[in-house]
Amino acid sequence: MIADGVELHPLEVWHAVEFAAHLERAREQIRPWVGPTFVTDTVDGARATLRRYADASAADGARMYGIWDGESLVGGVMFVTFDAAWGICEVGCWLEPGAEGRGVVTRSGAALLDWAFVTRGMVRAKWHCRTDNDRSIAIAHRLGMHSDGVLRSSWVYDGRRYDKQVFSLLHTEWPGSDAGR
Ligand SMILES: CC(C)(COP(=O)(O)OP(=O)(O)OC[C@H]1O[C@@H](n2cnc3c(N)ncnc32)[C@H](O)[C@@H]1OP(=O)(O)O)[C@@H](O)C(=O)NCCC(=O)NCCS
Repeated sequence: MIADGVELHPLEVWHAVEFAAHLERAREQIRPWVGPTFVTDTVDGARATLRRYADASAADGARMYGIWDGESLVGGVMFVTFDAAWGICEVGCWLEPGAEGRGVVTRSGAALLDWAFVTRGMVRAKWHCRTDNDRSIAIAHRLGMHSDGVLRSSWVYDGRRYDKQVFSLLHTEWPGSDAGR
């Protein structure tokens, strides 16, 4: 349980129809800010994304979790990358417009970080976003992340180039981990 009536569960291949319907609602809001392959417009496209994450997850790599508000899939959080050997992962997120402003992604992101640092003993968690993505930057700050710097001209959207900011948190900075106590 993430908040009143809001739950986080693995987002899997069998959710393809539901995920595609959710993307219909979320597409215009998320398109400028997330990777282009994530924003599909068919059920087959949605299924292919879920299949990609399922394959990665089976190899202890990337993973995706949906955020359900009651019966409705309203967004999600993911490990964009998860490298257990190096102890480094990257966390990402998205929401459909009606679900913003309630802290569900901040709390879901914290749940992923806790699993990464406490359960899996990861050492470094990253957060990448465009430097003009104010809502994403606010989440990185709420999660206690530090800015590692800016990768210039590292994001392309609609024919324009943008700078990307990298945030990170180390296990020593996470209160629940052995290293952070
Ligand atoms: C990025 C994105 C997920 C942020 O959504 P969000 O609603 O701002 O994030 P949260 O769910 O953590 O909610 C935070 C908001 O809820 C409020 N809030 C309420 N209760 C809260 C709580 N218990 N904890 C934290 N925040 C809370 C916060 O004040 C904040 O609102 P504000 O911005 O008006 O101050 C959303 O804007 C989005 O999907 N954008 C497009 C895709 C995208 O950019 N993805 C990230 C790519 S790097």
